[in-house]
Amino acid sequence: MTDGPASSAPRLDVERLRRDFPILAQTVRGRKLVFLDSGASAQKPRQVIEAMVRCMEERYANVHRGAYFLSEAATEAYEAARGAVARFLNAADPREVVFTRNSTEAINLVAHAWGRGVMRPGQAVLVSEMEHHANLVPWQMLRDDGRGIALRVCRVTDDGELDLEDLAAKLADGKVGLVAVTHMSNVLGTVTPAERIVAMAHAAGAKVLLDGSQAAVHRRVDVQAIGADFYCFTGHKLYGPTGIGVLWARLEHLDRMPPFLGGGDMIASVTLERSEWAPPPAKFEAGTPAIVEAVGLHAAVDYVTALGWPAIEAHERALVDRAMRRLSGIEGLRLLGRAQDRGGVFSFALDNAHPHDLSTLLDRAGIAVRAGRHCAEPLHARFGLEGGTCRASFGLYTTEEEVDFLAEALVKAREFFG
Ligand SMILES: Cc1ncc(COP(=O)(O)O)c(C=O)c1O
Repeated sequence: MTDGPASSAPRLDVERLRRDFPILAQTVRGRKLVFLDSGASAQKPRQVIEAMVRCMEERYANVHRGAYFLSEAATEAYEAARGAVARFLNAADPREVVFTRNSTEAINLVAHAWGRGVMRPGQAVLVSEMEHHANLVPWQMLRDDGRGIALRVCRVTDDGELDLEDLAAKLADGKVGLVAVTHMSNVLGTVTPAERIVAMAHAAGAKVLLDGSQAAVHRRVDVQAIGADFYCFTGHKLYGPTGIGVLWARLEHLDRMPPFLGGGDMIASVTLERSEWAPPPAKFEAGTPAIVEAVGLHAAVDYVTALGWPAIEAHERALVDRAMRRLSGIEGLRLLGRAQDRGGVFSFALDNAHPHDLSTLLDRAGIAVRAGRHCAEPLHARFGLEGGTCRASFGLYTTEEEVDFLAEALVKAREFFG
C-alpha cells in the first residue's frame, strides 16, 4: 500500500500536490524553479520515493525464487505492481502486462518477437512522421535485417495531425502487418485518434502498436476500449522511477510470440540441449527484474489514479488553453502543431535564436525546457526545423502562473535576440 496523494477532489489542488514533490521546492540559480520538462522525465512524489525506500529497507529480496518470507513478500509486491498497471490500463488480465526497462525496450521487444517471430516476408510496418526515434529505429532495423519486411511512413499534416487519408492509402493493399504509431506526439502534443486508427488498421488486416509514452501521462488509457494489440509506456514519465516500462499486449499475441531475451525466470524447463519457455508474462521477463522500480511504479500509478483523471484532464486543458493563448501571441515565435486534440507539450522556435541559446537564457530565469530535436529528427525535418526547437512540457504540478512566466520570459528573450 502507498500513501494517498494530497488531494482527490475533482479539481486538482495544484499548490497542495506540489508539496508532494520535494524537488520542486528548490531554487535554481537563485530563482524559483519552473520545471517545464516533464515530457522528458517527470519529477517524483514522495509517495513513490518512500515506497521504494520502504521496499529496500523492509521487503527486499529477489523475486520468484525463494521460499522464504522476504522473497515471498518481494514477489507479492512485484506482482501487485503488475496488477496495479493492469487496472490502470483496464487490461483484461494482468498476464498481459510485461515489465520492460522502458518504452524503448517494449517496442524493441515487439520488433524482435512479433516482427521477426510472427510477421511474414512481404509484409510491412507502417509508422508515422511524428514518431519518437524509439518507435522508428527498431523498425528500420527490422527492415534492414534481410527478412523482407518493408517500412512505410504515414504523413503528418501541416497542422500536426496524423494524415488519415494517407494512412488509408498506405493500408489499402493489405500488406501492412503492423501499424506502429504514437498515441501522443512528444513534439507536437498531438493526441492521435487511437480508436479510429485501430479500426482502419484492423479492417486492413494489420495489428496496432500504440506508443503511449506521452499519452498515458496525460489521458486515461483503456486498452480494451481502444482495441489495440500492443500498448507501451515508460515509468519515469508517469512520476515513477527510471528503469521500468510496460508493454501491454493481448494474451493471444504474447502466446504466439517467441521470447525476446533468454535467461533465468523466463523458462519452464532447461536441459543442456534445449529449453521450454514459461507462459507470459514471465516468457518476456528474463533475468532479475526491476523489483524496487516496479514497487515505485505501483506507487506512481496509485498516486495518479487517486488524483482522478477528470481532475487531471481538466487541469491539463486549462494549461493548454493558457499556453495557446499566451504563446501564440508572441511575435517571432513559431509554435509547432495546431492539432484539434492536444496535450501539454509545446515546441517552438524563436526568430534569430538557436534553441540551445534560448534554453540557456530561460534557464537563467529558472525555467527548465528541453532544446534540440527531442528524439524526433524526421519530424523536425518535416517542418523545416532541422536546427531543432525548444519544448515546454507540463506535468500535474505545472501551474498557470508558470505558463505565464514562460511567456513573459520569451517576450524578454525576443527583445534580447532581436
Ligand atoms: C513518444 C515517446 N516515445 C518513446 C519514448 C522513449 O521513452 P524511453 O526513453 O523511456 O524508452 C519517449 C521519450 O521521450 C517518447 O516521448
